[in-house]
Amino acid sequence: MEKKIPLPEKEIPRFWYNIQADLKNPLPPPLDPETMTPIDPEKLSRIFPGNLIEQETSTERWIKIPEEVIEKLLIWRPTPLYRAYSLERYLKTPARIYYKYEAMSPPGSHKPNTAIAQAYYNKVYGTRRLTTETGAGQWGSALAFACNQFGLELKVYMVRVSYNQKPYRRILMETWGAKCVPSPSADTQVGKKYYTEDPNHPGSLGIAISEAIEDAVNSKDTKYSLGSVLNHVLLHQTIIGLEAKKQLESIHEYPHIVIGCVGGGSNFAGLSFPFLCDKINGKELRVIACEPSSCPTLTKGPYVYDFGDTAETTPLLPMHSIGHRFVPPPIHAGGLRYHGMAPLVSLLVKEGMVEAKAYPQNSTFAAGLIFAKTEGFVPAPETNHAIACVIEEAKKLRETGEEKVILFNFSGHGIIDLSAYDSYMAKKLEDYVLSDEEIRMLVKDLDKFPRP
Ligand SMILES: Cc1ncc(COP(=O)(O)O)c(C=O)c1O
Repeated sequence: MEKKIPLPEKEIPRFWYNIQADLKNPLPPPLDPETMTPIDPEKLSRIFPGNLIEQETSTERWIKIPEEVIEKLLIWRPTPLYRAYSLERYLKTPARIYYKYEAMSPPGSHKPNTAIAQAYYNKVYGTRRLTTETGAGQWGSALAFACNQFGLELKVYMVRVSYNQKPYRRILMETWGAKCVPSPSADTQVGKKYYTEDPNHPGSLGIAISEAIEDAVNSKDTKYSLGSVLNHVLLHQTIIGLEAKKQLESIHEYPHIVIGCVGGGSNFAGLSFPFLCDKINGKELRVIACEPSSCPTLTKGPYVYDFGDTAETTPLLPMHSIGHRFVPPPIHAGGLRYHGMAPLVSLLVKEGMVEAKAYPQNSTFAAGLIFAKTEGFVPAPETNHAIACVIEEAKKLRETGEEKVILFNFSGHGIIDLSAYDSYMAKKLEDYVLSDEEIRMLVKDLDKFPRP
């Protein structure tokens, strides 16, 4: 009875998997909002280094992971794959449940898989300083760790509601040498607009992205870095699924159901894309993306062209969206409060390759508590969305008696989110559900853009 299925260091994957090589229909291109034609890569080079822009559009199936990146990833990778025996027993399910433990990294989530790669490519390109946004602080702390490893400066715009809820994430960023300010801030033109109207504005990822981009465009030797959504970010995360596949193979298992939570889509894509490759080639497999009911991008948002940020500075991306002006309610899963979704994940949902489900936050904390009390690890509030779905599916299998294999991504730990657990246990958490009418109002402007 093996609890942990390890992978030796020497077996760490040496290539990332690029699902763009295997898509039935190619991804619609990002559009220039001024001309409504595919964006000129030259324009993107104001904010991203050329080597990452190349990866963004690549259709090569396997992309070599540089040795310098591998060396840093080895600080915590390969991550263990666990069998959730205690959770299975608690649920009395015949399902065999496995989880990939991405909380092993120094900041405690999957985010450094791309932070390390992005810091490396920027360093090689000659970038001196990076800017970024962060929701819950997981991404900001991951990039702070990565910039510190490669000697880059970093400024992080942190969504104010999370900045106030999660002081320890800010301290972690500062520990690794980054500067972190609450967003909207008075440091940028975009931020000032919201900050002057309301100094306690809760902020949103959309606004924080606008601030970080404005800073990067106006500062010398500075580029912007995004922690999710874009193709190159999802690419860097595929090391999760590639490792999981080797680990499952070593015990002669293959999942029937793959589950992950989705904010911008990166940890979900990281785990699921290497398995979706098999599904594209005919393998039977269910793949489920889990989001909050308060920000139901995939389950209720239309598939449209929309901006990635609130100030309309990004290209138009083809994605499921509930509108770039959406200011999400202050739920604790800060990393899932994004109006859009990765174009690659959006396309796969539209094509029926991926299912999507939404959960209210109280039900996700109930699931997180069951996990903490059975398996021991305290999950991040984002991860709890995946666990809610795992429990639901495992219970269905109890009814049907099927001995199926469920694999999910434990995207991060919740040790720095204990205030959220405190509020849940004190019955102080509210459930927000975005109505169809609210969404209709939020997306009605988008009709003026072409349909992807
Ligand atoms: C622990 C954790 N899981 C999931 C997410 C969601 O992001 P993504 O959809 O890019 O994986 C975040 C984002 O901050 C996170 O911190």
